[in-house]
Amino acid sequence: MKKSLTLLAFLCTTPLLAQVSSVIKEDPKIFAGKSEVNGIVYADYKEFPTTWQLVTIRFRKDTGEMRLTYANELALKTLMSGSINYPDGAIFAKTNVRTMMDEQYPNSIAPKELSRYQFMVRNKDKYSSTNGWGYGLFDPDGKTFPEEPSKMANACYSCHTAVENRGDVFSRPFSFIEKVKMPNYNPPKELALKYSWIKWNELTPELKKIVPSTMKKIRVLVHQKMMDNTFQGTLDELKPLLIDEAKAHKAPALFLASDKKRFALAVPSKNDKCNDFAAFTVTTTALDLSLIQNSVCKDDSL
Ligand code: HEC
Repeated sequence: MKKSLTLLAFLCTTPLLAQVSSVIKEDPKIFAGKSEVNGIVYADYKEFPTTWQLVTIRFRKDTGEMRLTYANELALKTLMSGSINYPDGAIFAKTNVRTMMDEQYPNSIAPKELSRYQFMVRNKDKYSSTNGWGYGLFDPDGKTFPEEPSKMANACYSCHTAVENRGDVFSRPFSFIEKVKMPNYNPPKELALKYSWIKWNELTPELKKIVPSTMKKIRVLVHQKMMDNTFQGTLDELKPLLIDEAKAHKAPALFLASDKKRFALAVPSKNDKCNDFAAFTVTTTALDLSLIQNSVCKDDSL
């Protein structure tokens, strides 16, 4: 029951997110529509879904997206051996696929449309500033988004350091054909994503308008690299983690970029009569915050 309530909260907040995103105009258009980014050319790899091996599938609870990770031979060999020493030339590609319910059997989630392609290309010298991986992002037509390429790569890399112990690669060996032994990666020395408490008073003025003052303490995600290198993808990717944190501590959970403007926030939502938490993403102070304020639960019983 709890699960379905959560799902309901997500579904109900989606139109709000869409409205919020449509107001964002901060990305320069000059970077959009190119066929190359960070030295990665989409056309060079476009055959990957048929010529490389599918290594794993993931499902994102936040976006409802299916993600299919493919690896070329070098990347696959390294991944399956449990090593993290990826040689130059190893490449991972990921297709992100939006989903929908099968209207004749709503429990079965079906693929709907491609949303984007992502690449990680190994070249230790060329991409030394992002730990040897070059990062590329393309829309379903193989064209770039309006993000400044090096900023984007830093944002990709910052989040991928969460799995530094796996060579910055999230995907783990899996075979759809045979049983695979999970490698014993060295556990990270400490979790990359740590939270601390702050008081309501310490929030920025914008956040004070959203988070009711009755919520005296807020969980804040502290990850300096990610805070310094935030892009829309960072905020979107962090939402489910923030929701989990908010639920676990019965308190709002916040990620605030170093510019103190862009943030992702999980706050109790009016949906579901305040019985659950929903997340809201905002990327600029210049939008109409009342949209969000109106959907926040003012009930301090949480
Ligand atoms: C906030 C976290 C986050 C950010 C930012 C991020 N990723 Fe990832 N990435 C993930 C996670 C988690 C996975 C595992 C699969 C999934 O859930 O989609 C992943 C998987 C991948 C994979 C498949 C190989 C692997 O590591 O499993 C590629 C390729 C990839 N990401 C590329 C990118 C690119 C390119 C960018 C920037 C445009 C980017 N990522 C930004 C979290 C992130």
